[in-house]
Amino acid sequence: MGKKLFPKIDQILHGGDYNPEQWLDRPDILEEDIRLMKQAHVNVVTLGVFSWSVTEPSEGEYHFEWLKEIMDNLYANGIYTILATPSGARPAWLDEKYPDAIRTSSKGVHHLHGQRHNNCMSSQNYKTLVRKMDHQLADRFGSHPGLILWHIDNEIGSECFCQQCRSRFQMYLKEKYDNDIDKLNHAWWTTFWSHRFNNFEQIDPPTSLGEKSIHGLNLDWKRFTTWNTVEFLINEVSVFREKTPDIPITTNFMHLYPALDYTKLAKEIDVISWDSYPRWNTAEESLYDTALGNAFDHVMMRSFKKDRPFMLMESVPSLVNWHDFNKLKRPGVHKLSTVQTLACGGDTVQYFQWRKGRGSYEQYHGAVIDHLGRSDTRVFRDVEEVGAMLAGLSELQGTLTLPRAALIYDQENKWAVEDAAALSKKTKNYPETCMRIFNIFERNGVDLDIISSEEDYSPYDVIVAPMLYMLKDGVAQALTDFVKRGGQLVATYFTGYVNETTLCYLGGFPGDGLMELFGLYAEEIDTLYPKERNGVCFTGNSPIQGTYSVKDYCELIQVQDAQVLAEYTEDFYKGTPAVTVKESGKGKAYYVAARADEDCMEHILLQIWEEQKIPLQKLPVGVEYHKRENETYSYEFYINYTEELQTISRETKGIDCLTGAVVEGEYQMEPMSSLIVKCKK
Ligand code: GAL
Repeated sequence: MGKKLFPKIDQILHGGDYNPEQWLDRPDILEEDIRLMKQAHVNVVTLGVFSWSVTEPSEGEYHFEWLKEIMDNLYANGIYTILATPSGARPAWLDEKYPDAIRTSSKGVHHLHGQRHNNCMSSQNYKTLVRKMDHQLADRFGSHPGLILWHIDNEIGSECFCQQCRSRFQMYLKEKYDNDIDKLNHAWWTTFWSHRFNNFEQIDPPTSLGEKSIHGLNLDWKRFTTWNTVEFLINEVSVFREKTPDIPITTNFMHLYPALDYTKLAKEIDVISWDSYPRWNTAEESLYDTALGNAFDHVMMRSFKKDRPFMLMESVPSLVNWHDFNKLKRPGVHKLSTVQTLACGGDTVQYFQWRKGRGSYEQYHGAVIDHLGRSDTRVFRDVEEVGAMLAGLSELQGTLTLPRAALIYDQENKWAVEDAAALSKKTKNYPETCMRIFNIFERNGVDLDIISSEEDYSPYDVIVAPMLYMLKDGVAQALTDFVKRGGQLVATYFTGYVNETTLCYLGGFPGDGLMELFGLYAEEIDTLYPKERNGVCFTGNSPIQGTYSVKDYCELIQVQDAQVLAEYTEDFYKGTPAVTVKESGKGKAYYVAARADEDCMEHILLQIWEEQKIPLQKLPVGVEYHKRENETYSYEFYINYTEELQTISRETKGIDCLTGAVVEGEYQMEPMSSLIVKCKK
């Protein structure tokens, strides 16, 4: 089954971003850092993320002595290093001499030096300089006993519209369309508004100053930006693959980052890591609801590499400085968010940042050590407590989540849905629609993966694919095969309208053979105004009963050979089919033609889980549940985000991983508490 991320460390990693280069004139502080790290059970730090102007203060002049001394010292004290490449922020000399490293905006404005995360991914000069630096790092630190992981760049991603990017985009398109401009013209339907191209050199990236009306162009530009970023990543990764093949590589991802398709980047790295900054304790939602949002991200990250745990590369033990309102994490929340990371399949808990800097933009961003410099603070005590807890949970390392269900959330589909000039600009809400489905699974304690439409469906018995508007090649067939072999599939309105270059299917939606799988076709789709509601009423012989509210979208469908489960209750299409199912091979394909409320979707899923014998948990509202396992044991996590006592009930006997107490039958959880139950399989 799963394996430990870092075989030489027998502990869950606990630590964070450390910027000693800001304190080189304060050896007393650096010494104190090590003492406090040990007190907080810190066993890893990330060094070098933004240290280029210190390690190479002018071109070719290297200063790595300080870094070596710090790594040595950390290692002597039992603290490992994740070493980052500094490409996320460039020193002034570099931009001065190589201005093509700086990106150009969509309005054609070449930016000035400054900020970070803003290089041009096509700049050959920048790529060469980054590789030179990476060779230095690999040569000097590749065999350091404290080094466990390379961390490429930081939150990589940046769109650029310079001439180099324009030429590379044209090259990318030539390759994709076999150097045949007519093939591209057809795929993008450019005869519309007389937009046919005569050659690839005429094509500009989409911008509001030029072409934005060709969906195929818009989508291919996003694909190109991902491809170009992957090329940039590989430019760095390949140095380390060659020089230090035994040291794994990561790059830190972000929450629902809109500009990249992370599935493509995930293939180039060994470990998925990400940076989590939810708005804990907001006035707008309960702590549990915030946690569900964070769980969605954790699970998506875990699902990028299902055979190993992920890393939480950054989080904050207190507050950030860039939310609209920078609220403190309330007492107890840090521990719960830590347990949530583990519960969702993470094997590390790391912070941005270890120590607050004295100046510049992040001087008020939360940290383990603040300007007070003391360890008798609330935040330090929280971190220390969490560190002690993690030290007692080493056995969780490498355990896996093995869900039988998956939710399709596809980044390219998201781009296509959002770009489509259809429905309502205000209520498409593709991510939110997927999250609502995710929440139903969460509330019932059913673990699931979040996957792209192109993934292998064979591990699953249930797949929910909301608003799968764009069908990439092979997806319709894979879904059909999934159902025929016994899987149960739920699709919704706005499925299978276009192919992967956004051309509509002719002859009926959902296209590419899915009409047959669902036994119906969509004839029209009605967009409701925000306050309007329709309803779906389940018919007499349906195993699901009741009437449920629907909003935003109602598709009008013509049923061919599916069973009608529910009909619309209002409007001129009252009495026409709204929810259907069709058996196919050994499985079933459900079609929900309207944006039905969560209650409705939950009833459909309850029916499916029962038929597929997928166990549910009876969870009190506000309690999150997940399971991880290895060959011998399972570990079940319960997190009570409420201010009340909550009772959970368990059929099997287990022991509390932290106290060794037996947990059986009904068990009362304290307010704001967590429980990890270990059971022999
Ligand atoms: C992250 C970034 C860190 C730090 C942090 C502050 O996005 O990677 O360097 O800026 O945000 O919350």
